Amino acid sequence: MSAAVKKGNYDIADINLAEKGRFRMQWAGREMPVLDLLAERFHRERPFAGVRLAAAMHVTSETANLMRILIAGGAEISLCASNPLSTQDDIAAALVAYYEMPVYAIKGETTGQYNDHLNAALDTRPHLTMDDGMDLVAMLHTQRNDLLDDVVGGTEETTTGVIRLKAMAAQGKLAFPVIAVNDAMTKHFFDNRYGTGQSTLDGLIRATNVLMAGKTFVVGGYGWCSKGIAMRAKGLGANVIVTEVDPLRALEAVMDGFQVMPMLKAAMVGHIFCAATGGMHIFDGHHMEVMRDGAILANSGHFDVEINLKALGKMSTSITRVRDFLDEYTLEDGRRLYVAGEGRLVNLAAAEGHPSAVMDMSFANQALAAEYLLQHGDEMSGNVYDMPEKLDREIAALKLSAMDVEIDTLSAEQEMYLNEWTLGTAISDSDL
Ligand code: ADE
Repeated sequence: MSAAVKKGNYDIADINLAEKGRFRMQWAGREMPVLDLLAERFHRERPFAGVRLAAAMHVTSETANLMRILIAGGAEISLCASNPLSTQDDIAAALVAYYEMPVYAIKGETTGQYNDHLNAALDTRPHLTMDDGMDLVAMLHTQRNDLLDDVVGGTEETTTGVIRLKAMAAQGKLAFPVIAVNDAMTKHFFDNRYGTGQSTLDGLIRATNVLMAGKTFVVGGYGWCSKGIAMRAKGLGANVIVTEVDPLRALEAVMDGFQVMPMLKAAMVGHIFCAATGGMHIFDGHHMEVMRDGAILANSGHFDVEINLKALGKMSTSITRVRDFLDEYTLEDGRRLYVAGEGRLVNLAAAEGHPSAVMDMSFANQALAAEYLLQHGDEMSGNVYDMPEKLDREIAALKLSAMDVEIDTLSAEQEMYLNEWTLGTAISDSDL
């Protein structure tokens, strides 16, 4: 890649937004101390020197900070969006203007542009891929498989992407190793729960400005993301109903104090509906048939398939944009249903995504996973790998220390006890 990005080597909304983007990027960076620590080491050691990396990520101020530290480590990065509605145009501009990065991402891009942008990012012939949803890997293995030989490995940010990758690996179709960053503890315990919880409520509130207190809020699913949404909706005073298909998760939701019932029953009583399951048609036509006038529907899962918008469109006599990121669907019987963020992930479409303090850990995992692949990729095969636990714990320790939180260590005696199987009730240590 040439040092300077030439006009034409990027496709963004407006380069004049760059300064605003730089300020927002710096603001986000204040809550990303783990990335700063990695940046210092990367700057010294240059682990990515000469490495071409193609990334399909949500182009946000947090992602920009990840790009900053990878560039400090010598990486040559091309970046495209991982969702047509999640790009922050000022951030895309800042990365082009101040980091000379080829960025291909425009908020509100069409599906055609989205695909062109994936292709443009891949035109750099990457050694590494960094995905959020697996669209880059899918394109590499289908339309661009001439590029596969150059690829050492990839990383995947999100639950949906990991599910797709595992399906692909099970069919023996994955040509290179991919590290499931999503499955790192320092990722999904925090990002999926606290990040999605806060940012989804933020998106819903920005899109609608409705009061949550006293509303009946129906959460589709009780995985890590849905748990976060349920927890924060409850915190704002909503009466939360959870729907599930997994008995264990349903039981957990009951014991966490939520009502659990089938969606058809929940559909009759809910004011606000939000799904984050990774599945499809969680809110389907037959649910919409029984929803109350004024019900609000949103999705916080990766793809825009959790609300059956086709069915809703067919049931509607008109669709009107009534606020930014809020569409009113008027049904034949006069009821109105409202869809936030066009059914795309509401936290990134209508708000700014997860706060930087959690993305600090998610993206530390991304950076360390990329480094690990460069060091160990040739010993790995076309499979989905967990993040090495040692790195995961290292990130937790760095985050704690950046937060000025100290913890205990086991004494020698405690350690010995934990490694001893003979000490129970029947035999005490005086018997030994
Ligand atoms: N996914 C969810 N929130 C995000 C953010 N702020 N930046 C990048 N990816 C995200």
